Amino acid sequence: MKWSATGTRFTSDSGILRLMDDLGKALSGSAKKYMLGGGNPALIPEVAALWRGQMRELLDDPSRFDGVVGRYDAPQGRPAFLRAVAGMLNREYGWNLTEENIAVTNGSQAAFFMLFNLLAGPDADGSRRRILFPLMPEYIGYRDQAIRPGDFVACEPEIERIDDHMHKYHVDFDSLEVGHDIAAICVSRPTNPTGNVLTDEEIARLDHLAGSMAIPLIVDNAYGAPFPDIIFTDTRPTWNENVVLSMSLSKIGLPSLRTGLLVACPDIVQAVGAMNAIVSLANGTVGQALTERLFETGEILRISREVVRPFYRGRCEHALGCVRSSFAERFPWSVHRPEGSLFLWLWFPDLPGTTTQLYERLKERDVIVVPGRYFSFGRNEPWEHAEQCIRVNYAMDRADVEHGIAVIAEEVARMWSE
Ligand SMILES: Cc1ncc(COP(=O)(O)O)c(C=O)c1O
Repeated sequence: MKWSATGTRFTSDSGILRLMDDLGKALSGSAKKYMLGGGNPALIPEVAALWRGQMRELLDDPSRFDGVVGRYDAPQGRPAFLRAVAGMLNREYGWNLTEENIAVTNGSQAAFFMLFNLLAGPDADGSRRRILFPLMPEYIGYRDQAIRPGDFVACEPEIERIDDHMHKYHVDFDSLEVGHDIAAICVSRPTNPTGNVLTDEEIARLDHLAGSMAIPLIVDNAYGAPFPDIIFTDTRPTWNENVVLSMSLSKIGLPSLRTGLLVACPDIVQAVGAMNAIVSLANGTVGQALTERLFETGEILRISREVVRPFYRGRCEHALGCVRSSFAERFPWSVHRPEGSLFLWLWFPDLPGTTTQLYERLKERDVIVVPGRYFSFGRNEPWEHAEQCIRVNYAMDRADVEHGIAVIAEEVARMWSE
């Protein structure tokens, strides 16, 4: 096939495609797999029961059901849903949002594709602008989203060593340059893959930097407050007209309903609505319909705080306990302080070999993780540190996580002894 330049970009050598393909193939054999690799949330019984109940109510109300599945919505989202979300955020945080500040997308992944390409690239006067990621490692799902290569630029972190086996990344503000070629600054908070939560001070400084250059600060809140609330530090989300706050119904347990939400100034909301119309006419409606009443009543907050956050907190502590007992002092290791999301980010300093090799060895033993190199992008040189790290999803069964971590310990110990 003769592809366009854009077609060539999306069909060749996309890191995420290669990885997803590989993960899919790894899962297809008959042996049991220990799936600590992907980004799937856990199936939490109480939360799953809530979705089933909402679906039953929808089915039992024929005119509501027919309207939900039988009509296209406005490309910005269902007006009643937009009002319900704005109302809940206003009550919770004292913001002053209206439905003009909320856009729905078919998953927040699609929102990022739209935002990055609405903002980065050559502009009307021919100058080229880029998205700045001030803190690597960052979410793998961004790395291939720019239509033009070179539209992303990224910075290495400052690494704080908390103790022998724990570290935390911080934005290196001394090296951070926000020139006129930067179209927006983007961070995920909590961060996928590291579980980092940028401090309120870091967010305030990034917000100030973005504001001083009149560019948006995009904050990906897929795991954050007030839902799904998989965040273990005491922080509040920030929003002002200069911030684009992205949220998602995926990590609270509805990934297949593909519902993302942006909270932004009306200019950005309208642009995303326009792009929704061009790319997909409208959004899927079921996720919005299923959760609208939960936003109105605040039930989505209760389930997040009382069920979802404690669930992941327990899983996180369990996984951390497995790491401590399996790794012990067998080789050098450090875990990023887990402050939110579903992941442990493990660093093996001075590892003899790369974590891409470790990933292959683990795959042979039916344990699937994600090697760190995929979470580093927007830089010209390879980053050795990322080659010493892996991401482990701790949302799966406790026994699987325990076994997976024990196998990781064995393989890393082998790499040291060979
Ligand atoms: C940080 C982050 N942002 C965005 C997404 C995209 O999620 P969705 O498109 O399901 O809303 C994910 C999914 O894993 C994620 O981890």
